[in-house]
Amino acid sequence: MRRARILGTGSCLPQRVVTNAELATRLTTSDEWIQQRTGVKERRYVDDGIGPSDLALTATNRALDAAGLKASDIDFIILATQTAEHEFPGTACFLQKKLGNSGVGALDVRDQCTGFLYGLSIAEAFVQLGKYKRVLVVGTEVHSTGLDFSDRSRHITVLFGDGAGAVIVGESESADRGILSTHLHADGKFAEELWVPAPGSIYPGRITHKLLDEGMHYPFMNGKAVFVEAVTQMINVSKEALSANGLTPADVTHFVPHQANLRINESVAQRLGIPSERCDSSITRYGNCAAASVPIAFDERVRSGAVKEGDIVLMATFAAGFTWGAAVMRW
Ligand code: UT7
Repeated sequence: MRRARILGTGSCLPQRVVTNAELATRLTTSDEWIQQRTGVKERRYVDDGIGPSDLALTATNRALDAAGLKASDIDFIILATQTAEHEFPGTACFLQKKLGNSGVGALDVRDQCTGFLYGLSIAEAFVQLGKYKRVLVVGTEVHSTGLDFSDRSRHITVLFGDGAGAVIVGESESADRGILSTHLHADGKFAEELWVPAPGSIYPGRITHKLLDEGMHYPFMNGKAVFVEAVTQMINVSKEALSANGLTPADVTHFVPHQANLRINESVAQRLGIPSERCDSSITRYGNCAAASVPIAFDERVRSGAVKEGDIVLMATFAAGFTWGAAVMRW
């Protein structure tokens, strides 16, 4: 079977830096609490009128440049987001319009912070089967327009930022190089531990004044339950992914976990036995960018020249749903 590999990476972060000190003017919080409990120092917010498809467009163009390709070379689009630009159609269609490649399939993936890995896995399968030659996978989020700046949600609002990351997946010229495997999981019994209840088709009228007054259009999170399950499942899925390829944590050159909390990632890396310098910590600068966190972090590593041919890359995520997953690749 063909092997798929990432041909190019790109990312896009809005210019506007929002520090913890700035958030402390809008919420009862402090730089000290946010850094100690989450690791976040600052995050980025878009300017008014910029949507996830705009960030995705820039990230995609950078990934295309890196791969030496044009938009017309993409023959399938997969876009992961938990902050859809509109109720429907999917944000992938808005991105496709901006890319100008009418006619190619455009799929939205709704697996929140694990969405990028679900998308990568679909792209891998399409390329392996020979169904498509070059598949765009982009994770993109605009959280800032949907956060609750009241104290009820201060444990959530301080975490999130805006951004996008993209990869182009195509056929590898070498059987040894590329995506070695992807591993996806979910457990819907935890669906209401981390969610945005409204608007929704379960409510007559989708959204009501009562739902708005109750703040049901904002994210709710049982932070402690998410934290515990995130550590457990990211360790489990990382071990599953490595052992499926006859690898151990000692083989991992770059560990790129989802960026939800620095303490989660430090705990996962330590318990796996991966040295902290091999573990990405871009949450300090960008906060939690959900589906975009992993491709942003990976793009930065690639562009810095840190990722060398032959390196083993382990990606692992955990998200609302709950969903979690991992990917292992040889660069
Ligand atoms: O990407 C999706 C996956 N998401 C995650 O993986 C997030 C997982 N969870 C977490 O990262 C942590 O649970 C949080 C960072 C969200 C919260 O940390 P925590 O240590 O679990 O704090 P807590 O919610 O239990 O709150 C501890 C205290 C409370 O005060 P009292 O009751 O002890 O007086 C909160 O009211 O900290 C208070 N608190 C804050 N104080 C200042 C909560 N949020 C804040 C805040 N600033 N922003």
